Amino acid sequence: MRKTFVLGVIFLYLHVTLMRVSFVSAEDEIMDEDSDRSPPRPHHVLGRSKRETNSFWGNLFNFERKPKPERRISNETLNKMNEFSERNNRFLSLFTVVKFNNEACMSASGDNGTCFPQAECVRRGGASNGKCAQGYGSCCVFSKSCGASTNQNCTYFTHNGYPSSFDGSGSCQLTVYKCAPDICQLKLEFDSFNIAQPGSNGVCNNDQFIVSGTTTAVPITCGVNTGNHMFVDVGNDNSPVTLSVITSGPTFSRSWKIKVTQIKCNDAFRAPEGCLQYFRGVSGVIRSYNFDFTSGQQLSNQDYTTCIRQERNFCGIRYTACSDNVGYPSGGDPARSRAFTLTGQLAQGGAGSVGAITGSSNCVTDWVTIPCATNTGRILQMNGAVCQDRLCGDIFNSEGGGASNQVPVYSYAKPFRITYHTDSNETNDSGNRGFCLNYIQQPCTPQQKK
Ligand SMILES: *[C@@H]1O[C@H](CO)[C@@H](O)[C@H](O)[C@H]1NC(C)=O
Ligand SMILES: *[C@@H]1O[C@H](CO)[C@@H](O)[C@H](O)[C@H]1NC(C)=O
Ligand SMILES: *[C@@H]1O[C@H](CO)[C@@H](O)[C@H](O)[C@H]1NC(C)=O
Ligand SMILES: *[C@@H]1O[C@H](CO)[C@@H](O)[C@H](O)[C@H]1NC(C)=O
Ligand SMILES: *[C@@H]1O[C@H](CO)[C@@H](O)[C@H](O)[C@H]1NC(C)=O
Repeated sequence: MRKTFVLGVIFLYLHVTLMRVSFVSAEDEIMDEDSDRSPPRPHHVLGRSKRETNSFWGNLFNFERKPKPERRISNETLNKMNEFSERNNRFLSLFTVVKFNNEACMSASGDNGTCFPQAECVRRGGASNGKCAQGYGSCCVFSKSCGASTNQNCTYFTHNGYPSSFDGSGSCQLTVYKCAPDICQLKLEFDSFNIAQPGSNGVCNNDQFIVSGTTTAVPITCGVNTGNHMFVDVGNDNSPVTLSVITSGPTFSRSWKIKVTQIKCNDAFRAPEGCLQYFRGVSGVIRSYNFDFTSGQQLSNQDYTTCIRQERNFCGIRYTACSDNVGYPSGGDPARSRAFTLTGQLAQGGAGSVGAITGSSNCVTDWVTIPCATNTGRILQMNGAVCQDRLCGDIFNSEGGGASNQVPVYSYAKPFRITYHTDSNETNDSGNRGFCLNYIQQPCTPQQKK
């Protein structure tokens, strides 16, 4: 092993001494040389370009010039090169053919970046922030602000002057172009997001976050969304998606940092079409936009689907209202959570709790749909017992009827999806928060097929 490596190094040394080393991006070069092949995986070559290499040896030894299969350098080899470089810097500065994938990396500042050669990072409009690929690449972070555009995966969209807060009126836009032709989706992660709350009718009439150019209908949001996310589908043309934050009205300390990740059509992590929120994993927490126990107000004009990937060996879901009792209006019941407050009069003194309400004739303004929801789990449901789809009110309980106790609610309908709808005027519901639900997938029983 060691012998082979040393021979390899000597070979490379000769090779490179004969030809001066240059730093070349392999992407363009391979594109035109092997244009009949499917697009190459992005990677970079530090060294002589393949075309020239081929022609050099071709001329010298009369090789047939057919494209060689790509070889990627393993970590082991990179490690050896590093050890070697420590022993002999002069030598290393001459040799080295390093290819590395342009993989996601963690930058020195903690932001997510993409691994590129430093010059390539600058050319693409990023900022080098730390090392990657065993020190051969720079972790390249793309951060854009008002009026900018990007065609790079993993771009952060912030307001001008981030991380100081922003208080002013205006329209701040990021235009997002696809980083590759086969992009089907964008994931927007709200690393931080705090803009003005809606008016008392739940309409975002001061500040607004607007996503346009997507095939998914994205509701206008405002308020607090830190930690939340959106998956949006994009069409198969090259038209961009625009993210806009409109700010107006009273003085307010605003702040946002949104990570925009591009997802390929065949990516295993792509959300099913039309799922604005998408969760993987056996358990998690789902929150409506602007859900916040202390300040978030339920937004008007919401209409979206939340999807949960069914994990292997799991057949159902148990939902529970998040346990947090903060911020109940004075006069209300301090033992109750506002984790599920969709309709009712909570703002008006907190005395008017409507309890749990179910059914499409009772939930007509705002509701959550959990397909065939029951309090009792699979036993009743499998016997064809009555179940409910539509839940509203201010208590989470699928039996409705004004019930005043929050209980776990089960659903075994597949795929695992819930939808959320609110109407255009939340004035009557202005104490409501929307919903925060924990989910835990339920194992299959032997009778159940997946
Ligand atoms: C290669 O190294 C990187 C970081 O040094 C690590 O994240 C990755 O898992 C390694 N890959 C293999 C195949 O060992
Ligand atoms: C992206 O950043 C988060 C924290 O900011 C980190 O947990 C995660 O590992 C990073 N992803 C990659 C691929 O480096
Ligand atoms: C964009 O980056 C993420 C990791 O941050 C990765 O999972 C995804 O595949 C990348 N998209 C493309 C098109 O390379
Ligand atoms: C919203 O509803 C309230 C109460 O019914 C009403 O007073 C108000 O005018 C409505 N606002 C809008 C914008 O429709
Ligand atoms: C608000 O409640 C009042 C009284 O129940 C009702 O007349 C009015 O139509 C409601 N407004 C809306 C927008 O639902």
